[in-house]
Amino acid sequence: MTAPERAAPAVAGGSVTLGEAVAAAVGALGAAGVASPRADAEQLAAHVLGVGRGRVAARLLAADPTPLEPAARAALRAAVDRRVAREPLQYIVGTVGFRHLVLDVGPGVFVPRPETESVVGWAIGELAVTGPARPLCVDLGTGSGAIALALAQEVPGATVHAVEADPTALAWARRNIAGTGPAVTLHHAVVGDPAATRDPAAGPSATTALAALAGSVDLVIANPPYLHDGDRGRLEPEVRDHDPALALWGGPDGLAGLRAVSATAAVLLRPGGALVVEHDDADGRSAPALLAAAGGWLRIADHTDLAGRDRFVTARRGAAEGRHP
Ligand SMILES: C[S@@+](CC[C@H](N)C(=O)[O-])C[C@H]1O[C@@H](n2cnc3c(N)ncnc32)[C@H](O)[C@@H]1O
Repeated sequence: MTAPERAAPAVAGGSVTLGEAVAAAVGALGAAGVASPRADAEQLAAHVLGVGRGRVAARLLAADPTPLEPAARAALRAAVDRRVAREPLQYIVGTVGFRHLVLDVGPGVFVPRPETESVVGWAIGELAVTGPARPLCVDLGTGSGAIALALAQEVPGATVHAVEADPTALAWARRNIAGTGPAVTLHHAVVGDPAATRDPAAGPSATTALAALAGSVDLVIANPPYLHDGDRGRLEPEVRDHDPALALWGGPDGLAGLRAVSATAAVLLRPGGALVVEHDDADGRSAPALLAAAGGWLRIADHTDLAGRDRFVTARRGAAEGRHP
């Protein structure tokens, strides 16, 4: 937080310009420990005014002297209060950008992260080079539907299935699929053993739900829960208090999700089909080692995200490696 931001005027009384309101918001958000107070303040202002962030930036640059309407001022104050309490910005504005999509998000669904865009980018590039003309893709643990919808939008001719165990997340995915255009077939099912979820509403196993696809899938992609149980004390409040627990925890070694995904993928993929799975940045060696130990995986490789952190593992299903490039 900069000194001028700390000196920003309060917005409690009198008439207030957009610049004054945003400056006050920046100060409050910075004091609350929000990592990007200016960006968040401008996005919240854009949200309550119903305009793009560029429009807000332009008004700030021009030092627009127009007073904020009382209703807009109250709405901005309420939105800033929520963010000061460390509710995720995306829950407050109700949307998140993911690749070329704008997805609806809110309480009960994992907010898609920028690093996952790299994972999807690898899959799209791989399908373009080595995939069939109309690839069959499966997204395991779809949450908001981000990965599945990006594949459906960006891979010509793709047929995309998405699996989700959590009924609340499933409802968000259904809403995004309905509102975004590209077709994705959604399955309420569990990757792994349904009994392990201790939730009778979690659905059948993914291998049962997708039995008709066994041995024919070209790409299995997943961003499974992968935080190490021991990292619970290190989470930001936005994650700790708001992301659903089922989306976060990968067991003591962070790899429980990868184990379940790779076992399901081994059933679904055709020989030569591709697997791509996001993992914790501490698991750049242990994730590939897990696939190597499981057997049946070829061309196992780990990849970094745009920040240079170990982020996802890829492999090809073995058995008839020579038949497909
Ligand atoms: C880290 S979130 C990723 C969501 C989305 N794919 C994304 O990248 O934004 C993991 C998702 O997997 C779901 N999930 C966790 N365990 C699952 C399981 N065993 N079977 C099916 N879905 C599961 C969670 O509910 C959550 O929506």
